[in-house]
Amino acid sequence: MPDDALIAVKPELAQGARVDAARHRTMTAEAIRDPEGFWREEAKRIAWMTPPTKIKNTSFEGDVSIRWFEDGVLNASVSCLDRHLETRGDQVAIIWEGDDPNSDAKVTYRELHERVCRMANAIKALGVKKGDRVTLYLPMIVEAAVAMLACARVGAVHSIVFGGFSPDSLSSRIQDCDSTLLITADQGRRGGRTVPLKTNADEALKSCPTVKNVLVVRNTGNAVPMQEGRDIWCHEACAAASADCPPEPMNAEDPLFILYTSGSTGKPKGVLHTTGGYMVWASYTHELVFDYRPGEVYWCTADVGWVTGHTYIVYGPLANGATTLMFEGVPNWPGIDRCWQVVDKHQVNIFYTAPTAIRSLMREGEAPVRKWSRQSLRVLGSVGEPINPEAWMWYYRVVGDERCPIVDTWWQTETGGILISPLPGAVDQKPGSATLPLPGVQPALVDGEGNLLEGATEGNLVILDSWPGQMRTVYKDHERFIQTYFSTFPGKYFSGDGARRDADGYYWITGRVDDVLNVSGHRMGTAEIESALVAHPKVAEAAVVGMPHELKGQGIYCYVTLKTGEEPSDALKKELVAWVRKEIGPIAAPDAIQWAPGLPKTRSGKIMRRILRKIAANETDSLGDTSTLADPTVVQDLIGNRVG
Ligand code: PRX
Repeated sequence: MPDDALIAVKPELAQGARVDAARHRTMTAEAIRDPEGFWREEAKRIAWMTPPTKIKNTSFEGDVSIRWFEDGVLNASVSCLDRHLETRGDQVAIIWEGDDPNSDAKVTYRELHERVCRMANAIKALGVKKGDRVTLYLPMIVEAAVAMLACARVGAVHSIVFGGFSPDSLSSRIQDCDSTLLITADQGRRGGRTVPLKTNADEALKSCPTVKNVLVVRNTGNAVPMQEGRDIWCHEACAAASADCPPEPMNAEDPLFILYTSGSTGKPKGVLHTTGGYMVWASYTHELVFDYRPGEVYWCTADVGWVTGHTYIVYGPLANGATTLMFEGVPNWPGIDRCWQVVDKHQVNIFYTAPTAIRSLMREGEAPVRKWSRQSLRVLGSVGEPINPEAWMWYYRVVGDERCPIVDTWWQTETGGILISPLPGAVDQKPGSATLPLPGVQPALVDGEGNLLEGATEGNLVILDSWPGQMRTVYKDHERFIQTYFSTFPGKYFSGDGARRDADGYYWITGRVDDVLNVSGHRMGTAEIESALVAHPKVAEAAVVGMPHELKGQGIYCYVTLKTGEEPSDALKKELVAWVRKEIGPIAAPDAIQWAPGLPKTRSGKIMRRILRKIAANETDSLGDTSTLADPTVVQDLIGNRVG
């Protein structure tokens, strides 16, 4: 598809849109000309106990300090619940669709408010107070949203760990932030299978002395061990608690949540988001990007364990008084048409998913989609990884019947919400391009030395100035925050992504330029997988790189050097795959393992990953300079034994 293949905004979408092309231009100009005035106005979209008078106080230099609305006082749960009671108390806030197609539930704003208040009182009774950390390890059930908002209500900082992570991953995330309470469920359900959450949690807690209590949601109802004095059934604690819970007044810069995410080095880091700026950003972007209109049903297929679930299942939609759909299952179970069946069943207007899901559905052809009406759909969204133009066109043509615009939204855990995306009523689309920044976002491209590049070009994607939803620090490690995001190109936020900009100023994200993988939209550090591999008693050394993968976007390719005396075998490969699944979680399972008697290292001992990436991608005719290698012969051996 050529760069100039424009799909113009449909007049019927521009009409009545929250933002049309003219408004997009004025907002963009205003946000730069007068950020104070612009954000003072936008801050009014959420509920404040004390509205802020100080708006922006940010610096990307030196110690890096980011403060928005710093004298404002609020509670996030009030924006999501209390203020809707009068106007839409009986409107459905959450539609829950179970893994089993015969199970669903609807929760109104009034009911959600009551459930949140009860759980808030229940966790208070367990001693949780403002500033304490609470870890959530939950399936996609209504209680996940209730628990998030209950934490927010009492001023506790939630840290959600994706239910697919292993006990080890859970315990290291609990240990890092010293949570005192864990909220989990007996089991989860996904694609007809059960996920042993409580058993995993018990395993994890063996090395988490700070956790005093475990609140257990009864979900599948199957028997699970309960530890006397520590474990409490959630429904019993909530039934005993009062439904009246005044919201804790929080400063705009008080933490709302921590979410662990992978980087190019070391352990996952605790991305810290605060209350005021994040809530403004969640509401602003959810309304603009999806052109959300009152009464519409909105469905984001992410899991609350990822940032997409935080901002676009819970905080953004609820702040905007939307009806948000929470789906417990997976897109292809029990049938490949599950998504479209759910769209028709609940009359979904806005559908937001990941390219990996689209690619796997596309493989099954058009019939399973065409079987369902999908007439309710108005806007389609994509997130998590670059969407290839073929998948984009299929999504547009088959799923949306060429009627629905596609918003390809670029952002990160660190950015809190969407930064680059078309707006349905304002920006012409190009298949495969995230298009233009949202008003108030200033992306730029720089070369390897940090020089700003102008015009149509390609480079490293940076953001020049702060936006309200930006992460504030790495939990307990501000130095790592500065190092990771502001030291490569001083004075600028470095995303870790590369991008191309065309002559129309449209951005085309090309993917990570660091050692972070994006597997089916899940972000993973190669270093994490390597350390899981070398923890195996038979492994001496490991190097992990990404390889192109038709469905997942990227696959995980591992070069493994065994300890002297260990024999390579297919059985050992299987064992290593199972080992990594157990150490990190199924999402980190290697796609290919190659035995590597030696790895390409420089004379100073640094592994030349560039070469390993090329071999994994089968691009061995463009290896580049190998003359600086300590032993260039290892390369030929690796090429000869390439897997796949
Ligand atoms: O590489 C980019 C990719 O996902 C990374 C962020 O991952 P995470 O923090 O897990 O957040 C995922 C949900 C926002 C980015 O650095 N990415 C995300 N959205 C897109 C994308 N790459 C291309 N196009 C996108 N729309």
